[in-house]
Amino acid sequence: MSDKHVVYLDAAATTPCSSDVMIAMKPYYSEHFGNPSSAHVFGRRAKIAIQDATRHIAKLINCSESELIYTAGATESNNLVVLGSVQPGGNMIISPIDHKSVLASAEEMRSRGVEVRRMRVDSRGRIDVNHLRQLVDSSTGLVSFCYVNSEIGTYQSITSVRQALGNSDALIHVDASQALGKLPIDVRRHGIDFASFSAHKIGGPKGVGVLYARAQSMNKLRPITFGGGQSALRSGTLPTPLIVGFGAAAKLISEQDLRSSWKSAAKKRSMILEMFSKQGIPYQINSPSNYCVPHILNLSIPGVRSETLMSCLSNVCVSSGSACNAQDLAPSHVITGLGYSKNRAECAIRISFPYDIDNIELHAAVEEIVNALSSLIALTQE
Ligand SMILES: Cc1ncc(COP(=O)(O)O)c(C=O)c1O
Repeated sequence: MSDKHVVYLDAAATTPCSSDVMIAMKPYYSEHFGNPSSAHVFGRRAKIAIQDATRHIAKLINCSESELIYTAGATESNNLVVLGSVQPGGNMIISPIDHKSVLASAEEMRSRGVEVRRMRVDSRGRIDVNHLRQLVDSSTGLVSFCYVNSEIGTYQSITSVRQALGNSDALIHVDASQALGKLPIDVRRHGIDFASFSAHKIGGPKGVGVLYARAQSMNKLRPITFGGGQSALRSGTLPTPLIVGFGAAAKLISEQDLRSSWKSAAKKRSMILEMFSKQGIPYQINSPSNYCVPHILNLSIPGVRSETLMSCLSNVCVSSGSACNAQDLAPSHVITGLGYSKNRAECAIRISFPYDIDNIELHAAVEEIVNALSSLIALTQE
């Protein structure tokens, strides 16, 4: 997971395409370039490749193939649900630490006459289900939340959220784009209506995602794009190579042993913290110690702004939060959403790694971070 010198510790932002994925995609850019909607042989070939990929994705999350709608990524999947599920006069419930693609589309719905309610989260980022119980009423059309938070790694109990909704008819949407490959996902067992996924978070290509829409709930969504009606809720020519790559990545992920990947990531997380402690680097952990995937570790270093640290690192890629926030110097809404100060949010860094990163590489990268921090801390004490 590195070029010659640079170690990539930003897997929550995106992952590289594996060679198997690249090999699978390549012929669909040139030899088999047909439009999957065309009835001729080139079209039929593309359609078969898409059907094959769809089988792998459906198997991975346990749904039927007709319940999957391809999109340009999790941003579009989230928009499709938030913009298309609640009528003016109704209300939707979201969480304050959701991804911006949910928060911003919910804001849009507010301007169209939908009431947007925010459920409380605790200092670990876990949904306060008692508060959710109080918020839900007969006008609630949608409850949306992130399964695994992209900045801190906290995961939610989907069962507890479902139970808190009681007999409500509210639709449940889960943004599961950070969960694939980290937690088992079985959309049927979870009893959810919609779930968003993105290929580039699991070793697939950028620019393709999928929305799972439960067969019985699909007709409760209104499309946000109009045209050829290539799939039930989304128009536009399907990007065959990207979908083939997504399918190949899904197949690879389904062959992974989640337990051993989890254990390996947990060991690496401990190693990082140990190295910080050994070098006397003060830190505050923003990722909770339980209900958190170990592949994402978020820390604040008091007095060292994350941008300053990142500008001192030449051979390591970490981030200050979600990739979408990188241009935006405002402190992370996730860290402040946990109740922490603006100051703490400004000093937050996210280290996220694939579980199979080489220990030697990881060690060298953390050493560079620790050395940079020691110098920066010394400067603040001069
Ligand atoms: C939780 C979550 N939701 C949505 C997205 C957006 O995904 P995409 O880049 O596929 O639009 C991301 C990506 O950062 C994410 O982490």
